[in-house]
Amino acid sequence: MEKIVILTGAGISAESGLSTFRDEGGLWSQHAIEDVATPEGFARNPRLVHDFYNARRANAGRVKPNAAHQALARLETEHPGEVLIITQNVDNLHERGGARGVLHMHGSLFGALCNACGHRWEAPPRMHPDDPCPACAAAATRPDVVWFGEIPYGMEVIDPALNAADLFVAIGTSGNVYPAAAYAQHCRRLGARTVELNLEPSANTRDFDERRHGPASRIVPAWVNEVLSA
Ligand code: OAD
Repeated sequence: MEKIVILTGAGISAESGLSTFRDEGGLWSQHAIEDVATPEGFARNPRLVHDFYNARRANAGRVKPNAAHQALARLETEHPGEVLIITQNVDNLHERGGARGVLHMHGSLFGALCNACGHRWEAPPRMHPDDPCPACAAAATRPDVVWFGEIPYGMEVIDPALNAADLFVAIGTSGNVYPAAAYAQHCRRLGARTVELNLEPSANTRDFDERRHGPASRIVPAWVNEVLSA
């Protein structure tokens, strides 16, 4: 049975109404990465960082999954082999689109993490720097998202899945952030077929055997239909 590993990025949620990072007008043109997406930025100004993620959490709660999220959920249910969806996104649109086993390698807007004791809990709609940890009471609460300089989550699941993949598909990701940006090349070297589904060629488009360019809500359902009818 064909083992499929799917990597998604901000582009899959763009048509739901969430901003990407590097497109024109994207989040990184409005906010400095070093201020809002690094441990050092958080140490300097936790209120600014919480405000950034509070706003993104509110936006994510207001929008709906699109046809691309729903098509991947259908693939997960109907494909007779294994399907692993790895997302770099911190929204919950895959889950709200019906997917179950999604691995959030960059964490989630809906989680809170204590910087003092490592305890995790469900994030309230708005987080504040002085929110006490429910386990140790320290006022060291941060969003449970992975920042630059930190190790992504789930590598112990991701690495073996990449090694065993027959088909690797990257959707809506610009291929600029590692380690995710290296996955296509890694899988291809090990003999997997690689497919890119993106609005435009990504930074590592040469690592893909097949490339389809267009909006995710159109090209992802079409690709899923082909896989399920093959
Ligand atoms: P980017 O903003 O870097 O890339 C989004 C990609 O989606 C681009 O290649 C767009 O062309 C494409 N895209 C835009 N709209 C699309 C649509 N409707 N359909 C299909 N594709 C579309 O976002 P990511 O690659 O996800 O990490 O960024 C990776 C990581 O960089 C993020 O997880 C985040 C960021 O810094 C951290 O914050 C640690």
